[in-house]
Amino acid sequence: MIPTNASTPPVVELRNIVKHFHGGVLANDQITIQLQRGEILGLLGENGAGKTTLMNILYGLLQPDAGEIFVRGQRSHFRSTHDAIAHGLGMVHQHFMLVPTFTVAENLVLGQPSPRKPFLENRKTVARRISQLSEQYGLQVDPNAEVWQLSVGQEQRVEILKTLYRGAEILILDEPTAVLTPQEVDELITILRKLAQDGRSLIFISHKLHEVMQICDRVAVLRDGRLVHTTPVQATNPAELSRMMVGRDVVLRVNKGPAKPGAVRLRLQNLQVRDDRQLLALRDVSLAVHAGEIVGIAGVEGNGQRELEEAIVGLRPVEQGQVQLNQQDVTNRPPRVLFNAGLGHVPSDRYKTALLREFSIAENLVLSRIDQPPFTQHGLLNQPAIDQNARTLIQQFDIRAPAIDTAVAKLSGGNAQKVVLARELSHQPQVLLVAQPTRGVDVGAIEYVHQALVRQRDQGMAILLISTELEEILNLSDRIIVLYEGQVMGECLASEADVQTLGLMMAGSKLATIANQQGGATK
Ligand SMILES: Nc1ncnc2c1ncn2[C@@H]1O[C@H](COP(=O)(O)OP(=O)(O)O)[C@@H](O)[C@H]1O
Ligand SMILES: [Mg+2]
Repeated sequence: MIPTNASTPPVVELRNIVKHFHGGVLANDQITIQLQRGEILGLLGENGAGKTTLMNILYGLLQPDAGEIFVRGQRSHFRSTHDAIAHGLGMVHQHFMLVPTFTVAENLVLGQPSPRKPFLENRKTVARRISQLSEQYGLQVDPNAEVWQLSVGQEQRVEILKTLYRGAEILILDEPTAVLTPQEVDELITILRKLAQDGRSLIFISHKLHEVMQICDRVAVLRDGRLVHTTPVQATNPAELSRMMVGRDVVLRVNKGPAKPGAVRLRLQNLQVRDDRQLLALRDVSLAVHAGEIVGIAGVEGNGQRELEEAIVGLRPVEQGQVQLNQQDVTNRPPRVLFNAGLGHVPSDRYKTALLREFSIAENLVLSRIDQPPFTQHGLLNQPAIDQNARTLIQQFDIRAPAIDTAVAKLSGGNAQKVVLARELSHQPQVLLVAQPTRGVDVGAIEYVHQALVRQRDQGMAILLISTELEEILNLSDRIIVLYEGQVMGECLASEADVQTLGLMMAGSKLATIANQQGGATK
């Protein structure tokens, strides 16, 4: 960080920013933060804390209800992103906004606030500036490549380049690491450091505290729309930050003993499955999950995880290969049959496939068994049994809700997830498929969900965990399998896993190849 003396105003100051949304959400409540020149400021907070809203306000995408923005000491009012860009701001969004069929260079020039000179005349100048910028900051990309050909990591570099190309001095990056492998994260960190050393100022948004600790100079923690803490990173630690994020002490590591695997409960044999575009999404995937163990499927998002999940639960046709539950072939059987054969499912998209938003908690908790006793007796709904089931599970799973007849739509992500988990576990399935179990779930509930899964493992459940959060995979799994472009890259014991090797596999190297190369290198 470049030292600033007291007379230099901060590059950015947000003063008492307030933002309400329809439905009574107070997303930003009197937030005041400052960003110094050459600084990387972490904006840390759970999902829904108000980070993106605050940055969208700074970037001119949203108007605040109250509060002021100062840029280099000047009161500024951004009516649009054009205003913000003209003041030297740039933002890399959570979801990229590039045109896939355009080249990198075309994307950079696209949407320039003042396209005074037509692009065609400047092709050479543009290319020169791009290679200059990419060399300077280690942002290697081919200016002539079309965006659809790029990896996610490269696309992100183009987004960063685009802000620099437009002259951004203040960069906002909204959860930039969410889509990257560990190696790509390291590369990104190097790039961000160079940018800061060069006098640019960065705001790095994340809900991962370790990352923020590693990357940032200072960190501001948001909770429920309020700024609860600002501190230099050296003066804090992960435990303190998580307490600030959640408002109480959190156990960051899951306590678990070694697994005691029993018989094979779930077996996938040479699975071949297509995605919605009829392209091969899973190629020859084989794996087994034993009773009493958690097998984690690691991988960057979009490498076949969703198709794997859907194929196992009978929601997507299996073209070749077999799904076996307890030695029984259940390939391409409907979800109902799989459920009766002992499969539980906590899906990646809980609102689409697991919950009926407008229905009550009590109803959602019996969704898959509503037509069975004791919930239906002699063809009639047994409301007292349904209510009693809800009361028991709400207490057992610590679901925070006003009442058992509250609509699930009113619950926070964490509590909605607990409803799904409670229901699925209440059937006592022998095999549980859990996908992205803590996405959009607050840290407190993550802790709960993780402990619940380990408890079930210890009682003999076979658990297949699909997660794009490597932390979560490392924390929970006994064995780890890496999926890349629908293929298994390799498998290792979690106790022997190293992040470096996992990262290489997540980027498409087979474990066998990595092992050979490492063996070769030491010879
Ligand atoms: N366009 C919107 N309309 C209504 N509510 C919104 C909108 N955008 C965000 N929210 C709500 O505002 C709160 C803060 O959201 P957000 O800024 O996206 O949080 P974060 O980025 O920290 O996860 C959440 O409760 C979210 O549901
Ligand atoms: Mg966000």
